Amino acid sequence: MAPTPTRDDRFSFGLWTVGWQAQDPFGAATRDPLDPVEAVHRLAELGAWGITLHDDDLVPFGSDDRARAGILKRFRVALDDTGLVVPMITTNTFTHPIFKEGAFTANDREVRRFGLRKVLRNVDLAAELGARTFVMWGGREGSEYDASKDLHAAFDRYREGIDTVAGYIKDRGYDLRIALEPKPNEPRGDILLPTVGHALAFIAGLDHGDIVGLNPETGHEQMAGLNFTHGIAQALWAGKLFHIDLNGQRGIKFDQDLVFGHGDLVSAFFTVDLLENGFPGGGPRYEGPRHFDYKPSRTEGYDGVWASAAANMEMYLLLKERATAFRADPEVAEALQAARVPELAEPTIAEGETLEDLLADRSTFEDLDVDAVARREGNFVRLNQLAMRHLLGAN
Ligand code: GCO
Ligand code: MN
Ligand code: MN
Repeated sequence: MAPTPTRDDRFSFGLWTVGWQAQDPFGAATRDPLDPVEAVHRLAELGAWGITLHDDDLVPFGSDDRARAGILKRFRVALDDTGLVVPMITTNTFTHPIFKEGAFTANDREVRRFGLRKVLRNVDLAAELGARTFVMWGGREGSEYDASKDLHAAFDRYREGIDTVAGYIKDRGYDLRIALEPKPNEPRGDILLPTVGHALAFIAGLDHGDIVGLNPETGHEQMAGLNFTHGIAQALWAGKLFHIDLNGQRGIKFDQDLVFGHGDLVSAFFTVDLLENGFPGGGPRYEGPRHFDYKPSRTEGYDGVWASAAANMEMYLLLKERATAFRADPEVAEALQAARVPELAEPTIAEGETLEDLLADRSTFEDLDVDAVARREGNFVRLNQLAMRHLLGAN
């Protein structure tokens, strides 16, 4: 019996996901436009808790203030009718041709100033709608040709842009944090801040880095050949996992934005294990929304769109059930001990031990039977097989 999502699961979806009309570089749209208000109602019926959006997903680019006010009013009525919340807002700085060469790091200064104004206006909307997270995915910040970008200046401008937005949030007293979303490429040949690691290093150089964190996406780290669970673990360890984009990706290729779990299923199992069970030895937990940023396959009509939305939540809940059973299994507890997993939480230097003590401890080095230690069984594969049995429901 498939698990049923409830508001307590805090599943959220971008309007741009179910609303994607499936146009791609090689083909026209296969689906008609979707009214954002219908998306709100349908996702609420499926069990979603929150809706996220780019400014342009709701208010078409270039709308005048009167049209914008009317659209926002109608959207708020749908939120009130369904009880859905808006946990996150983001800005589209990639669709309109003006952003063809980026926004914050475009060589063209007029583009940068326009992009900054568009983002700042959207910060106000985020506050108005009660969002707590402001995602910034710099999809067009990058290049195809190395000679086309002064990269030192690019990072200066990127820092200037993010710090300006963060400073604005502080000046206005908004309860908002910025979450940068790394991606290695697509639509630019190479995108700046390509991975979690690059973004963490960049945040360390900001003036207002205290309210800037990360929105890692499953497929983006995997497009770079990286382990997504390792990425969110390091973001958590750094206190910077502010939001998350869950989806599926099958290897190093274009951004597939598959349903969560429809790509690397083993990785998805351990991602849910970390999100739901935390680190085995304790530490920071992710308390944010379980947000899906995926695209319903171009092959689907709207029946398939709603089935794919439900599939994201079902996959998450099925993996949550199995990861919880994995952690509760006494055989797994014994296997974790055999693999010395709990031992890693024990500091290498003992409480109160000085470097002098360590250097004098002959059992650590001079008298250690190195070959005997080297021959110890890892017991990792048996532990992983137990995890696979739980993942496959074979227990
Ligand atoms: C992508 C990105 C986007 C962003 C969204 C929010 O590859 O297209 O994942 O979907 O997440 O624009 O910034
Ligand atoms: Mn993506
Ligand atoms: Mn995303």
